[in-house]
Amino acid sequence: MDTNRDWLRSELESIEEAGLTKRERVITGPQGASIHTENGDALNFCANNYLGLSSHPEILKSAHQALDSFGYGVSSVRFICGTQSIHKELERKVAEFLGFGDSILYSSCFDANGGLFEVLLGAEDAVISDELNHASIIDGVRLSKAQRYRYKHADMADLARCLEESAGARFRLVITDGVFSMHGDLAPLPEICDLCEKHQAILAVDDSHATGFIGKTGRGTHEHFDVMGRVDIITSTLGKALGGASGGFTAASRETVELLRQRSRPYLFSNSLPPPIVAAGIRVLDLIEAEPERVARSQSNTARFREAMTTAGFSITPGIHPIVPIMLGDERKTMALADAMNARGIFVVGFSYPVVPKGQARIRVQISAAHTDEQIDQAVTTFREAALELGIIG
Ligand SMILES: Cc1ncc(COP(=O)(O)O)c(C=O)c1O
Repeated sequence: MDTNRDWLRSELESIEEAGLTKRERVITGPQGASIHTENGDALNFCANNYLGLSSHPEILKSAHQALDSFGYGVSSVRFICGTQSIHKELERKVAEFLGFGDSILYSSCFDANGGLFEVLLGAEDAVISDELNHASIIDGVRLSKAQRYRYKHADMADLARCLEESAGARFRLVITDGVFSMHGDLAPLPEICDLCEKHQAILAVDDSHATGFIGKTGRGTHEHFDVMGRVDIITSTLGKALGGASGGFTAASRETVELLRQRSRPYLFSNSLPPPIVAAGIRVLDLIEAEPERVARSQSNTARFREAMTTAGFSITPGIHPIVPIMLGDERKTMALADAMNARGIFVVGFSYPVVPKGQARIRVQISAAHTDEQIDQAVTTFREAALELGIIG
């Protein structure tokens, strides 16, 4: 016991010494563009609340109504006694929204990815993954017996190499994040689609950082790139733009989804999504379609922030995504600027090695449709003042 405790302590110390301890900042109220924290009020520029729906009154109302009419939880997995009419309704809506035959709900997108590859691929198959894919994809791939290939991030020549090398496999499945969360860059889907079609490979996209707000009507990266109908499988989350509570799903052909219902372990052996989350998810999709201005606002807010920060003299990875990495390079400067921003009431997070490569430290800002023009301008002004004071910009 003591030996184990000693080991635990030494592990924690080495995490601390390496500067990798993750500390939680405690919010004392609901998620939003402005938040209350233990250290005072702040403007929040580091949440996945892309559409500002996490605490939206219509979403809260739907969740409350579902509590009253469908209860708190179902105490069962889906196939035993845990399927309510609203679960079926949300699955239909997700499939329609994304343009697929069917969809299947999970407790999280982590589970959707965890329960995907093992079902669809055996030892005679191959899975081909972008090297920067999300941890849940990496874990999901580990659970399958398929041969594994990894291509350099967004490198189409390297993806082509993997497809050629895996030509002997029965099935090949290419998996990529639709949006890579550290950089806010989009996977080059048109080129990936071309390669998958040429090599008859299945294409799966994890669109967690896109569903609901990327693309003209918010359907995601496949809409943005005009390749709807060319992506075979989409996994995504209800835990970011789509209400922000929790829950995930896989959308695909009817046959794919039916096989997942029969064999996907996180679906078969884990409890159903609670009714308030399901009903709120339905309402979110209705709101996105009925009020397209929210998607437009997310996009115009992002453009406003990106332009103003560039004009202010910051180096920003170009792009269209509300994830805006402010590239500072130096680890200590990055942490000093993040601390200065937080001290001035703007909630942001600095990332440094080993989360990102050495010398590529950055502050990752996330813009929400809920931010007002004034809040965005205030964030930019604060960035400028703090950076000038620290000698980061001239
Ligand atoms: C690309 C990607 N996939 C999956 C997940 C996991 O989603 P969830 O929170 O629903 O498990 C995340 C969340 O960080 C993500 O960024």
